[in-house]
Amino acid sequence: MKRRILMGTAIALGLGLTSMSAIAEPPPLEQKDRYKVGFAQTESNNPWRIAQTKSFEETAETCGWDLIATDATGSAAKQVADVDSMIAQGIDVLFLPPREEKPLIPAVMKAQAAGIPTFLVDRSVDQNVAQAGNQYVSFLGSDFIDQGRRVAEWVTENFDGDKGIIVELEGTTGSSPARDRKSGFDDNIVKDDRFEIVASQTGDFARDMGRQVMETLLQAHPDVNIVYAHNDEMAIGAIQALELAGRKPGEDVLVVSIDGTRDALQAIIDGKMGVTVESSPFFGPLACEVMQKYAAGEEIPAWVKVEDRIFTAENAADHIDEAY
Ligand code: AHR
Repeated sequence: MKRRILMGTAIALGLGLTSMSAIAEPPPLEQKDRYKVGFAQTESNNPWRIAQTKSFEETAETCGWDLIATDATGSAAKQVADVDSMIAQGIDVLFLPPREEKPLIPAVMKAQAAGIPTFLVDRSVDQNVAQAGNQYVSFLGSDFIDQGRRVAEWVTENFDGDKGIIVELEGTTGSSPARDRKSGFDDNIVKDDRFEIVASQTGDFARDMGRQVMETLLQAHPDVNIVYAHNDEMAIGAIQALELAGRKPGEDVLVVSIDGTRDALQAIIDGKMGVTVESSPFFGPLACEVMQKYAAGEEIPAWVKVEDRIFTAENAADHIDEAY
């Protein structure tokens, strides 16, 4: 069956042509009733990751998957080893959220060499080395740059002070969401000269580290009045640190972030957080649909984009029951 992969972005196409030897098609996928599917999770220390794994587990029952799901416990090296083990167990297809962009390239390459089509879910790998339609089939996920841009736009429209002193809590260093959520926010917030980012430091997408980093940054920048966290877990950790220091999130400091977890929606309802731009973890049904289309020989875009909503005081209560 002839398969055509749409190179959805000019960047992917351009990079794919820089090295002729690097151009290859991802392995095909046979059409059958049941598939042995690998899902190599990055870590399970936050509600987003737990919801994502659950989505794959639930989809396994409806999509005819014998699912092998692993947990890399926050280690890129373990995630690579987990993929090695899945290849040895004879998976038909791999769904991979690469914890970091560069260290997970070997996993993508090894799956390709073993004839296993890979779909990147939610995070991407270094586009200088591997591209959709070449080493892997497609990237399924959100536009992280746009998420950061939407937070910046909301802050610009809703901050009512004269001077916004911003502390930024970054996600996992070397991961695609941390890089893109930073550029999306930073490039747009500076368009309004009321705002200044006085510190930007990683909290590794984790609540506890977000709290610890916020505690430290508060001492260096006691005048902070805006906290932008790259995910809700770090935002909740920051709120804890602010309250411990006698600050009043929602009154004297505006906290904004990305994801849409239950705790973040509750913090918005409680008036402690301003906004969270959604980043959906529910990839299972989309993964099933795209995989079946690929097996049927249909064209798969280089980027299957997930559209995200925005949660504020206006709608948080309407959505908290469906949150995770
Ligand atoms: O890659 C998406 C990010 O990873 C989510 O925002 C975060 O909560 C998760 O750990």
